[in-house]
Amino acid sequence: MYNPALTYDDIQLVPAYSSVSSRKNISLFTKLSKNYSLCIPLVASCMDTVCESKMAIEIAVMGGVGCIHRFMNIEDQANYVAKVAAALSNERVNKIWADNHIAIHQIPVMASIGANGDFAERAVALVNAGANIILIDVAHGHHENVKDAIAKLKATLPKHVDVIAGNIASAKAAQDLEAWGADGLRVGVGGGSLCTTRVKTGFGVPNVTCLQSIIAVSSIPVMADGGIRTSGDIAKALALGSSCVMLGSLLAGTKEAPGQMIEKPNGLYKRYRGAASLETKTVHGQEQRNVEGESTVIPFKGGVKFILAGLLDGVKSALSYGGANNLKEFRPEFVVVTNAGQAEAKPHLLL
Ligand code: XMP
Repeated sequence: MYNPALTYDDIQLVPAYSSVSSRKNISLFTKLSKNYSLCIPLVASCMDTVCESKMAIEIAVMGGVGCIHRFMNIEDQANYVAKVAAALSNERVNKIWADNHIAIHQIPVMASIGANGDFAERAVALVNAGANIILIDVAHGHHENVKDAIAKLKATLPKHVDVIAGNIASAKAAQDLEAWGADGLRVGVGGGSLCTTRVKTGFGVPNVTCLQSIIAVSSIPVMADGGIRTSGDIAKALALGSSCVMLGSLLAGTKEAPGQMIEKPNGLYKRYRGAASLETKTVHGQEQRNVEGESTVIPFKGGVKFILAGLLDGVKSALSYGGANNLKEFRPEFVVVTNAGQAEAKPHLLL
């Protein structure tokens, strides 16, 4: 008998006794990696239509972090990192971190690299520009290349730099990456809104089961990545024990996301494309092989601040339903729902 693997829509959280007097008193303080914390559990994805310096600075103002993507030459990526690092001593950015007792040098500045080619040289340039978190951004993180990359980074980068690695989807991968020296895990394979990995290869694990199996064996922070569409999905990922979530589609289409605005007769749009999409590979002059993602346009959403504020409202409300004043206390039970339960969970007024 096989236990079916579950994803966010398959579960609902069960309300718990609560003495939370006001959502204003709820803390969303959390870990990003072994040595770095966040004031809110939100990370902007290292995609070329999601996060460059404008996005990273604006999310830092709210207490989260943006991961500068790697689909550009080393100098350009280092320049974006330098812009983010320079903004962190600015009062507008610093306030929430100071309120959470995080010193300026402990505010995370995050950027991604690959696991071969120029990755080591890139990492050094990013750290010299001010990055203190390096994310090894590969589709199959349970790989010898990642093991070698972590070893190289740990041997060469200054000790204050944390290395987050992924993406992974099994307990064995989590154990291995931790043993190889990773300071945080990026978790989720094939569940992103533009991913075609599961269709193309048959590989991937639905997000809830994936997170459960990894969180059960991990002692380093887990970042849930891919497939998060609502604040309810964020709440479910956190309730399972994820430390934070990485967002792509929820932040794409905002003013701060890279990319030109596209004017159509019915409104304004911006592009959103998978990191392994044909479009991304073509735009960045990569080989047009191993395509595992789609690309699309997304309606323009305005400033990311308002999107983040709406998401945080929902997450704080979730903690209140779960009787939790902070994310450590937030471990509500969940039930598995049927198709009827899923339908009931959405507005369904019959007229
Ligand atoms: P959401 O659902 O937030 O997902 O839009 C963002 C995450 O999707 C992953 N990603 C990809 N996965 N092919 C994939 O299989 C791709 O082309 C691709 N691009 C992004 C990535 O983990 C990201 O954070």
